[in-house]
Parts: sequence; structure tokens; C-alpha cells
Amino acid sequence: MSTAPPDDDAALVVLAGPTDSYRLGAFRRAAASLGASVTVVVDRPHPLDGAARHTEFAAAAPAADGTAGDVLAGLRPDAVVATDAVATVFAAAAGTAAGLRCNHPDAAAAAGDKGLQRLAARRAGVRQPEFSLVDDGDDLAPAALAVGLPAVVKPLRLTAGRGVIRVEDPLDARAVGPLVRELGGHDTVLVERFVPGGEVALEGLLDDGRLHTLAVYDKPDAPQGPTFPETMLITPSLLPATTQRRLAHDTAAVCAELGLRHGPVHAEFRIDDRGRAWFLELAARTIGGRCASMLRFHRPADGAARTLEELVLRQALGLEFGHTPADGSAGVWMIPVAHTGRLVAIEGADEVAALPGITEVALDVVVGERLEALPRGDRYPGFVFARGDDPAEVHTALAKAAATLRLVIEPER
Ligand SMILES: Nc1ncnc2c1ncn2[C@@H]1O[C@H](COP(=O)(O)OP(=O)(O)O)[C@@H](O)[C@H]1O
Ligand SMILES: [Mg+2]
Repeated sequence: MSTAPPDDDAALVVLAGPTDSYRLGAFRRAAASLGASVTVVVDRPHPLDGAARHTEFAAAAPAADGTAGDVLAGLRPDAVVATDAVATVFAAAAGTAAGLRCNHPDAAAAAGDKGLQRLAARRAGVRQPEFSLVDDGDDLAPAALAVGLPAVVKPLRLTAGRGVIRVEDPLDARAVGPLVRELGGHDTVLVERFVPGGEVALEGLLDDGRLHTLAVYDKPDAPQGPTFPETMLITPSLLPATTQRRLAHDTAAVCAELGLRHGPVHAEFRIDDRGRAWFLELAARTIGGRCASMLRFHRPADGAARTLEELVLRQALGLEFGHTPADGSAGVWMIPVAHTGRLVAIEGADEVAALPGITEVALDVVVGERLEALPRGDRYPGFVFARGDDPAEVHTALAKAAATLRLVIEPER
């Protein structure tokens, strides 16, 4: 990794994200394709990237924009973009300090808190499960009873299903309290009614308060608990157009209440058996992990290819970000960790790669490594990608992959 060669005329894009981000590479490539120079801000010094600046990314908005501005001392960025959720408050503070069109740091901080999201959705009149915010130390049982059972207990600021646990009764709720609180850093805990049904996600881009929908994903075979590993995402969605418009409407309404006005948004909903959408949560970032690589767009004028990251950077730089989705359907299966233990073998990976419709098998683990399952686990062993003419074809390919690939994990006592 190195910083792009300086070019006096080139736009300067600051990319902020964790040192071990899955997303930094794709954003660097997007910046290069736009001819922009790049400065990277990470949370820990990187042995291979002496040029990167580093800072601790705070979850709360800084009292003054000083610290964020100081990290960028001597630079005049044209855009500051967070590659991952942890850097959104920094990006907003640094962008504000540089006088850029970007989110207010308070809005970025609020968006990182599932409790404030619930309050925002309530103010916006968006359909969502009954919920209760329980302070550290207070009993979760009464809250679970109050919201209705089964319920879901979750920390306010974690991602990827960490610490999210379904409970069947009040005693269950009380019992999971210590673990959820430990993982969540002894913050307030969110208890909400479990919404049965399917799950979908919306990928959007805010520009001056207006939400542009980039993609809607179905999540077939969504988990029903007690933990909720990510499974498959397939786009385009097969939901009726009216429901998809409702997702966009609700996402925009929650963003407006939170004060989010610029940049990417990834929002999740459950769809009940009557086809109604229930808001789960959103994040002011693009889809996580390696998943974004499945999205492909075209510039409407001439069909030139555009990636999701290019659209995000174009919006941040104030450039037009016209986009039509590529033909056909695409999907990803995030390989789950069935239980905690040592990985002793990966079976079927070559077979999966040769399956019709499978375009890539990206494994991020090696044999011998310790893998941790949810609710504690915080990473995915890998991703399997598929493309096809329609979502059914993609689903068939990914379901075959899921039935073929096996991580053999020696359980821990
Ligand atoms: N109220 C709920 N009803 C049903 N499922 C839920 C509910 N809340 C969370 N889940 C499940 O847990 C997953 C993770 O919870 P989420 O709120 O999205 O937190 P995270 O930030 O960890 O993704 C969701 O994708 C969904 O499958
Ligand atoms: Mg989520």
C-alpha cells in the first residue's frame, strides 16, 4: 500500500477506516479510477503503509472539531469518506472542519446508536418492533415482558450480529444480560419484540438529504435465532415495487430524523407474513465485508461501468453519480461459523468454485485458526459470490455452495 503520487490538479480524497478494513482496497481503486489522490487515515499504524495517518476513531462526536482537523493538518481534502462504520464520526468531524458538504458529526454519532435509531424511527412514524432501552445494571426481564415475547436483546453499537440474542421468556432475558452487557461495553441495552419473517436490506446514497436507492437485497433463509449469523444476500429483490418504495421511504424518514444528509446508508428490515416492512436498523456506510463487490452499475449516458465505491466517492466530491444496475442478478453467501473452536479442515471449496453460477470463493481463514461463533464472534471466514440471469438462479447456486462447503471445526470444551 502506498499513497497515490501527488498531482496538483487531482482531487484529494481522505479515506478513513480501520487498519484491517475489508473496504479500504475497493475505495482506493475507486479513487484511482476517478484520478483522485488519496490519503488514508487508519486507527493503528500499519507496518506496510508508513504514509497513512492514524487516530483513534471515537464513537461520540468530539466537543470541538479540533482532533479530527488536526489529523488532517496540512491537507486540503475535497472529500473525507469513511470506508467502515467505525470511522463515520471522524469523517463527519474532519469533513466539517474542512468546510466540506458532509454529515454533521452529531448525526453520524446518532446513526451509530441503535437506541437513537429506534427513537428516530418512532418520531418519524416508521413501523418497527416494540422496544425498550434498559440502563446498565437494570433487570432485562420486565423489558422483555413489556415489549412482548419472543424478544431480541442487543447492544447499541456492535455490528454483524455480535451480542444479538433472541429470548423466549423473561428468565432467558435476565440470563443473557451479563453476556450482552459484557460485549456491549456496559452501555444501555436494547430489548425489542422479535419480528418473524423474511429479511431484506436497502443500499442507498444520500445526497443533500435526498435518498437514492442503489440496490435492494433479499436475504433468503434469514435466521430466526437464537443468534443471527448473516447468510445470503441476493439482488435485485423479488419484493413488490410498492414494498421496495416503502423501504426507501422509511429509510429516508429515519435518516432525516437522525440528521443524516450525505453519503452511503445500509438499512435492514424484516418483512412479516402480511408483506409489511419492519425497520430493524441502519448504518451510515456501504454494505460490509466483501459483499459490495457483487454490485455493478453503469453510467446511464454511455453504459460505462461504475462500482459502488465510485458512486460513493462521486457523491462526496459533488460529481454526478448517475447509475443503473447491471443486468441479471448477483448474490453472496457469508460463510457462518457454526460453533467456536479450531478450524481443522475446509472441505468442498474447489467443488464450490466449479459450481454453475459461482463466480468467486473468497476464504479469509486458514486451517489451524481459532474461529469464534456468534454471539461473540466478529468475523466471517469467507464469502461465496454468484451471478445469474435471475434471483432464483443465484439462490440455487448459493444454496448448493452452502450445502457443499464445510468448515470442520474441532469444538472447544
Ligand atoms: N427485532 C428483531 N426481530 C427479528 N430479528 C431481529 C430483530 N433484531 C435483530 N434481528 C436479527 O438479528 C440480526 C442482527 O441484528 P441487527 O439489529 O441488524 O444488529 P447488527 O448491527 O449486529 O447487524 C438482524 O439482521 C436480524 O436477522
Ligand atoms: Mg444488522
